[in-house]
Amino acid sequence: MARTCLSLILAAGEGTRMRSSLPKVLHEVANIPMLSHVMRVCSEAKSDKIAVVIGKGGEMVIDVVEKENPNASSHIQTERLGTAHAVLAAREAIEQGCDDILVLFGDTPLLTPLTLTNMREVLSNGAAIVVVGFYAKDPTGYGRLLEEGDKLVAIREHAEATQEERAIDFCNGGIMGLSGENALALLDAVDDNNAKGEYYLTDVVEIANSKGLSVKALEAPEAELIGVNTRNGLAEVEMLWQNTARQKLMASGVTMQAPETVFLSADTIIEPDVELEANIVFGPKVVVKSGAKIKAFSHFEGAVIGENADIGPFARLRPGTDLASNTKVGNFVEVKNALVHEGAKINHLTYVGDAEVGAKANIGAGTITCNYDGMNKHKTTIGAGAFIGSNSALVAPVMIGDGAYVASGSVITEDVPSDALGIGRGRQVNKAGMGEEIRERNTALKAGRSEK
Ligand code: UD1
Ligand code: CA
Repeated sequence: MARTCLSLILAAGEGTRMRSSLPKVLHEVANIPMLSHVMRVCSEAKSDKIAVVIGKGGEMVIDVVEKENPNASSHIQTERLGTAHAVLAAREAIEQGCDDILVLFGDTPLLTPLTLTNMREVLSNGAAIVVVGFYAKDPTGYGRLLEEGDKLVAIREHAEATQEERAIDFCNGGIMGLSGENALALLDAVDDNNAKGEYYLTDVVEIANSKGLSVKALEAPEAELIGVNTRNGLAEVEMLWQNTARQKLMASGVTMQAPETVFLSADTIIEPDVELEANIVFGPKVVVKSGAKIKAFSHFEGAVIGENADIGPFARLRPGTDLASNTKVGNFVEVKNALVHEGAKINHLTYVGDAEVGAKANIGAGTITCNYDGMNKHKTTIGAGAFIGSNSALVAPVMIGDGAYVASGSVITEDVPSDALGIGRGRQVNKAGMGEEIRERNTALKAGRSEK
């Protein structure tokens, strides 16, 4: 039978060094909270249950936990008395019983499911505890892993370590697996006799050894274990996340001219054979279908870009944009909440909002859908094959029929029937000789002034 797993995420960090009113674990990497990254990794590693330990005043954190996973539970650690104390704040979840307990931190968003799977493997082979370690370039501040052969005998916190122990560069990454069978007894045996007067989770290692239980260390890449403490750290983790995501996309068949200038979200989907020029930002909820080409300096949120679409440069797609295949959205065009059918073109300097644009319609430069009356939003419907002349204002609600034309410079306030021409502007009048008359008058005026 498959082993059951509880993932327990410590997220009570006060985050004072972030200088933020937002709880630390809610700061975002790739447009989702760090805590959501960790919770998703737990789900990907097939955790049956997720329990999150939060600090006082963590209502905002509880909301995120519930939204991310309705089956996850939140537990409040009212006093900050150390990592073992924090784990026991979720005693209720532990008491429900499971084979593997994984203790993780909510501020390490680069963790991978593979590391969790590897931890579970060590537990399933009979270890009572598995500690994830890494070789630190600078081990200062970390707990040191003290090994004898393949046994982990103790974790010595930096504050308590001797000079000799401080020379060890194999460090505690902070995350630990415990077999459900022994977890509570080990945790309850931890005391606070140490330099910081805290209940150290790390003490369970020595306690387990004294009971003759098997304790192992498991190595993982340092980058996965980076904990964010400052805004600088947040930016560093964001950069590492972006690099990994870009590499995965390129490996899957996406072309990137300047990958370091493309910014992705955790949920960005880009199909193979998409080409991306430089400087493109993918906000939340964007899908780009195969064969699309995205030119430089474009910004997207909540948009679907259809197959072989041709977008940008300088395009802005806002939530609710749905572009069918072979559409074109050119420079300085903003599209919001609009369904644009196959082959339609919106090439220059245009705003299309709350609209439907029919197949193969052509929207001229400088067209504006006037969707907002100061209180309500209204819809503009443009038929298939319609042609909207440049610099037209379409005052919604309004419908332009299939195959209709709108004359350039029109302000359209009434529907235009199919195949009709709508003109909404003053008629042009030419006055013979008037140009010359004006010039003479102005010349005389100027001469009069310079005499004074
Ligand atoms: C901890 C480890 C150390 C390891 C390091 C890796 C212990 C005693 N030490 O040290 O061996 O090298 O992480 O980064 O475990 N927390 C609570 N409640 C508390 C205390 C902590 O929820 O009462 C949470 C914090 O929010 C944080 C995590 O536990 O997410 C680690 O706590 P922290 O105080 O940062 O431990 P370190 O001293 O860094
Ligand atoms: Ca820390």
